[in-house]
Amino acid sequence: MISGRATWALVALALSFSPSAQAQTGWYLPEQAARGELLYQAHCASCHGQRLEGNPGAPLAGPAFLARWADGSHSVDDLFYILRTLMPYSAPGSLERGQYADITAHILRVNGYPSGVKELPSTGKSLRQIILAPPP
Ligand code: HEC
Repeated sequence: MISGRATWALVALALSFSPSAQAQTGWYLPEQAARGELLYQAHCASCHGQRLEGNPGAPLAGPAFLARWADGSHSVDDLFYILRTLMPYSAPGSLERGQYADITAHILRVNGYPSGVKELPSTGKSLRQIILAPPP
């Protein structure tokens, strides 16, 4: 017979591999990131590259971006703040708040952060609570 402790270990293991448990941890909805991708292609890709690789501008995905943003000292709000107040570079603040949140969701998705069951909010208060650590 399996001991109680071993049973719990198995349950924990099963949960950690189940897609639904994974989904609970995400910060944005898949459809939100999909909307964000369209907005990104229209308003950002000309400077940051189609795949966020930063061609010709700064990369918004990959090791250099994560080293800068996911060192545990930045919240999603720090990133959102730059988008909302400085981007697109040629027309800062020209999109809706919700659209900036959608683009942020797209950036998170491309960087390997999982989606979840709630929209990424567009208020600083909620976004400040999400600290960027390296993606799982
Ligand atoms: C006309 C070119 C251009 C467009 C369009 C543009 N950007 Fe930028 N972006 C820049 C430049 C240039 C910088 C560097 C600015 C600086 O360091 O002062 C930058 C910096 C950034 C940064 C900070 C990167 C870092 O690690 O410091 C983010 C995030 C960003 N842009 C996101 C976006 C998003 C999202 C959009 C679309 C809504 C966008 N940008 C559209 C030119 C552009």
